Amino acid sequence: MMKVGVIGCGNIADTYFHSAKNFFNNFEIIACADLYPEASKRSAEKYNIKNLSVEELLLNSEIELIINLTIPDAHFEVSKSILNSGKHSYSEKPIAIEFADGKELLKIAKSKNLYVGSAPDTFLGAAIQKSKEIIEEGSIGDIVLGSISMGVAGHEIWHPNPDFYYKYGGGPILDMGPYYFSALVNLLGPVKSVYSQSRTVFSQREIGSGNRKGEKIDVDIPTTLVSQIEFNSGALIDSFFSFDVYKHNKSHIELYGTKGAINVPDPSYFGGEIKICTEKNSDWKTIKTDDMNLGRLDANRIGGEKNYRGIGVSEMIDSIINNKENRCSGELSLHVLDIMQSIIKSAKVDQKINLESSAKVPDSFLDSENNKFI
Ligand SMILES: NC(=O)c1ccc[n+]([C@@H]2O[C@H](COP(=O)([O-])OP(=O)(O)OC[C@H]3O[C@@H](n4cnc5c(N)ncnc54)[C@H](O)[C@@H]3O)[C@@H](O)[C@H]2O)c1
Repeated sequence: MMKVGVIGCGNIADTYFHSAKNFFNNFEIIACADLYPEASKRSAEKYNIKNLSVEELLLNSEIELIINLTIPDAHFEVSKSILNSGKHSYSEKPIAIEFADGKELLKIAKSKNLYVGSAPDTFLGAAIQKSKEIIEEGSIGDIVLGSISMGVAGHEIWHPNPDFYYKYGGGPILDMGPYYFSALVNLLGPVKSVYSQSRTVFSQREIGSGNRKGEKIDVDIPTTLVSQIEFNSGALIDSFFSFDVYKHNKSHIELYGTKGAINVPDPSYFGGEIKICTEKNSDWKTIKTDDMNLGRLDANRIGGEKNYRGIGVSEMIDSIINNKENRCSGELSLHVLDIMQSIIKSAKVDQKINLESSAKVPDSFLDSENNKFI
């Protein structure tokens, strides 16, 4: 049992505390900290763990790994301080906001022989893993084209402190892109180039819940990005990410191959129904994943009983113990950050951007292996 700490006790923290206690048997969260001591006190009391200051947590000699659940703008500094205190770091997504900062984290980790990992870990779930198996088995042919779409009206509807979504480091790409691009790199390999355009449809957002309900937030960043993504494999994907959409009926991920098509469910969940078509103009055939370990129906929703967020931490600890590369790796997260920052930059300069980085496709995570984690 590796002893683990948490920095950042906000909205998503409960999901990690819950899954660590109920699913994973190779780590135990023993302490937490937050910039605001009331936040960590609340979590410490609820989960019967130690409430420490950030400094105390970093210096605690029992703790070998710290999960960074702070807001995106703090990810780099907090992960850097975790690594510099000699502990492994696993952060919520994105790994950092700036590509250079992500690169620095990997460099520090390497120089200290530590692991660095980052969410999302939902690509380890049944839906993406089964889709990967279908694509690799060949019935869809070579994936040559595709379309991805993420559109919501904005997280201020439900999040009580949604400021970070509309400030530096926020926006639909840095917030939701990690799920989609981590999934796509798993399915299609690394990205070569991107071209995008952007819009900011509303200059202010109104908080819809909590103590600050009715308060307005200024929007500092693009809230819709429409892009073309070219993969090293030659596949060309159109991509739509927006916080400006009241409702839509587009698919999350649809990939078109030389012998068929595959419709992949929402990559921010672990499970879901896959649809495939292998004959021209025939109906979709549905492939369920709820009989797989990480695809059970209630595995999907945040706050759901079987939400397995945190399995990336468990898998990273197993990799540390067995001296192998973790799947939610620094390398993958850095490539995903490169894709996202290139999309944002391309829209700003109105030019196609070639990516600096690449990443290996993580090994499949089959039920025969993942059953030891849950
Ligand atoms: N809320 C969700 O449903 C959700 C889902 C998936 C991923 N995430 C990701 O999780 C991360 C956190 O999101 P959230 O919704 O929990 O945010 P939040 O604002 O509710 O919580 C963040 C917490 O981090 C603390 N914090 C900020 N900077 C800090 C610092 N420098 N040192 C110590 N503590 C610090 C804040 O005080 C706050 O308690 C984000 O990266 C987000 O993208 C959130």
